[in-house]
Amino acid sequence: MGIATSESFNELASENLLYNHVSPKLSDLDMEVVRSVRPGGNWKDIPLNVAQKSARLRQIRASGGRTTYYGRLSENLPSYTINTYFNRPGNGTFIHPVQDRLISIREAARLQSFPDSYRFLGSTSSMYKQIGNAIPPLLARAIGEQVKRGQVVDLFAGAGGLSEGLSQAGHSVILASDINPKMCETHKYNHPKSAVVCSDLSKRNSAKELASQIDDAVHGKSLRMIAGGPPCQGFSTAGKWDSHDVRNQLFIPFMEIVERLMPDYVLIENVPGLQWMKNGVVLKNMLSILRGLDYSTSAHLLRAEEFGVPQRRRRLFILGSRQGEDVDPPPAHFYSLERGKRRSETLHLDELASPVSVGEAIMDLPPINSGSGEHVSIYERNGHQSMYQFLMRGQITWTRFLEKRAK
Ligand SMILES: C[S@@+](CC[C@H](N)C(=O)[O-])C[C@H]1O[C@@H](n2cnc3c(N)ncnc32)[C@H](O)[C@@H]1O
Repeated sequence: MGIATSESFNELASENLLYNHVSPKLSDLDMEVVRSVRPGGNWKDIPLNVAQKSARLRQIRASGGRTTYYGRLSENLPSYTINTYFNRPGNGTFIHPVQDRLISIREAARLQSFPDSYRFLGSTSSMYKQIGNAIPPLLARAIGEQVKRGQVVDLFAGAGGLSEGLSQAGHSVILASDINPKMCETHKYNHPKSAVVCSDLSKRNSAKELASQIDDAVHGKSLRMIAGGPPCQGFSTAGKWDSHDVRNQLFIPFMEIVERLMPDYVLIENVPGLQWMKNGVVLKNMLSILRGLDYSTSAHLLRAEEFGVPQRRRRLFILGSRQGEDVDPPPAHFYSLERGKRRSETLHLDELASPVSVGEAIMDLPPINSGSGEHVSIYERNGHQSMYQFLMRGQITWTRFLEKRAK
């Protein structure tokens, strides 16, 4: 990999640069583990003499463990979910398909569909959280395309996966907010036109203050949408907001801001489990609170791989609309392995393209060793470049990508 000096970086156009291609350093034992797992394999591949050296592996062997643990990615399939632990081999499927190391921060970003121009700032431990917690931009883009374009505010914005997708869909993110300064720093760098307010929304009066800052940022124009993913576990079964329940502390200020500003749309993202929480009462209550503010509501469970993300990841999107219509789910462009298995009749699988694979997502990136790589280096393509890689490098548009890659 070509490593440039800071002077030469200044001379280079950013399209030649590669950010965050850094792979975590592993212990000698973890390296033995990594070498023993075949592509598509997992902890079951690890020979007994190696597994016996690790308490965790001994426990998994004794009581059984998920088949994603100690997994090595398969080049021909989308990845499993990228969580915030992709710096450890034992918490998911994060071993590179052919190199004996874990995926780099950039490779995880590619599997989350962040374009290569998106640079992660802060400590490496923060970068794992920034990427693992994000909504994949291409998934956010798909949902963003379902509503009228306009000025958007992103609350609990993190590093900006949701903001990035909404921007790609043609929205203008005018303000983002998060409690974490590192997240705010990454957001600010990648969305320079958006104001970033680093504040703790659980604090008294913070919602009122943020609503007034948003009002200033709107500049008298209309606010199209407030988006965000506040935790919602603390709903009481009676359907009322219990302000003494700490788990409600973040949903209440989110809704307070909505009520003060009444945007055309509200977009709430959350984990699929929200649907079944308290036998569905939590979701029902959220929808009825939105309806109480005159929003018509819809909820869509979306699978990231159906929208071009090379990853199996599901997310629930709740939409409130004051435009007098329910917002439809976005149309899939790729089939889901999960739906394929279940032979869903709602999708015509033969009309859809196969989902983007790990190989298509990352194999152009320069080879590196475990514990090496640079946060800023020169992009030197390794072999053939796929349509997805062209898209990530900013060399083709999404429309062109769909024409060439989807059917
Ligand atoms: C799931 S992440 C958001 C991911 C983001 N939507 C994306 O696509 O990149 C949730 C965010 O909520 C933020 N958060 C947690 N508690 C908060 C609080 N009290 N006030 C404001 N933000 C908070 C966290 O720092 C985290 O970045």
